[in-house]
Amino acid sequence: TRPLKVALLGCGVVGTEVARIMTTHADDLAARIGAPVELAGVAVRRPSKVREGIDPSLITSDATALVKRGDIDVVVEVIGGIEPARTLITTAFEHGAGVVSANKALLAEDGSALHAAAEKYGRDLYYEAAVAGAIPLVRPLRESLAGDKVNRVLGIVNGTTNFILDKMDTSGAGYSEALDEATALGYAEADPTADVEGFDAAAKAAILAGIAFHTRVKIGEVHREGITEVTAADIASARRMGCTVKLLAICERAADGRSVTARVHPAMIPLSHPLASVREAYNAVFVEAEAAGQLMFYGPGAGGSPTASAVLGDLVAVCRNIVGATTGPGESAYTRLPVSPMGDV
Ligand code: NDP
Ligand code: HSE
Repeated sequence: TRPLKVALLGCGVVGTEVARIMTTHADDLAARIGAPVELAGVAVRRPSKVREGIDPSLITSDATALVKRGDIDVVVEVIGGIEPARTLITTAFEHGAGVVSANKALLAEDGSALHAAAEKYGRDLYYEAAVAGAIPLVRPLRESLAGDKVNRVLGIVNGTTNFILDKMDTSGAGYSEALDEATALGYAEADPTADVEGFDAAAKAAILAGIAFHTRVKIGEVHREGITEVTAADIASARRMGCTVKLLAICERAADGRSVTARVHPAMIPLSHPLASVREAYNAVFVEAEAAGQLMFYGPGAGGSPTASAVLGDLVAVCRNIVGATTGPGESAYTRLPVSPMGDV
């Protein structure tokens, strides 16, 4: 069988781990896919930087030329941000490649157009890593729960802010010190404002609400409050009341089914609640569905290796589809439901 060629766009915290696992697990991946997978090129901003374990001849600063090469089967986009990621992804579809992306900011801004482009060119768009790091959540909602009716998705979806709040609560660390540590561990976005002001969690809420309720939600429709106003005194006073402070994302279908709500804000959580035990950069999400009841998804929500696990899972899925000459489920038919940011709080 001919090798499937993968273009890796971005080789930072996540991309480095994706490349490493692709290399070290090459035989297992080939066995699971039914064809070998070959890293055909790696696009970065600074090509002269030494990148351990990566063949220097694969590195390029010209991501556009790489996706236009014509022989690429799958593009893995782990650059982040809106542009050039958006244009690179649509160019990849036009040139016959499927796409795996971890880019929640882009998917929450323009997911609709990206899905339409994937459909137009008959290609896959998978993005498990965009929400909650290693935790399988996108595909369970998109596939396993497709026959059920999801009414609520609620939880902790940002590792950096959970890490900061946890450190401030349990070890008395200062806000800046905890943020610096989260950044050093590779949890924070390139601009950590996205984490601490709640933009990252709002992007994830928009993606989750869209998939869970078969509608479209854009990041701008999500009510958003971050953690920058949460002080050490707030956390201490929550603790005196038997609570801890967590940044929650809450997506709900209205009781009459005619609208949805999506919001992100800090909340006091009783210490007896399972969300109170979510430490460091872990995430936890409850999904409430009519037939299934309440499901809890829990695990590492950020960092190179956990995120690469989700990217690799998608890579295997897209490659299997190519080998089987098919595509994945794509977007379900949807009804455009109005989004009310706060709902009936
Ligand atoms: P990094 O900032 O660590 O890496 C970004 C990479 O993209 C770098 O290799 C950079 O090159 C490259 N890059 C930037 N601009 C360009 C460009 N114009 N052309 C080509 N390459 C470019 O980010 P992360 O790895 O942390 O995140 C990547 C994506 O994954 C983002 O969408 C992020 O939101 C998402 N994500 C991250 C998680 C995490 O825990 N870190 C978890 C889940 C999702 P150079 O190396 O030369 O600077
Ligand atoms: N910055 C993000 C977080 C990365 O801290 O959750 C994972 O999406």
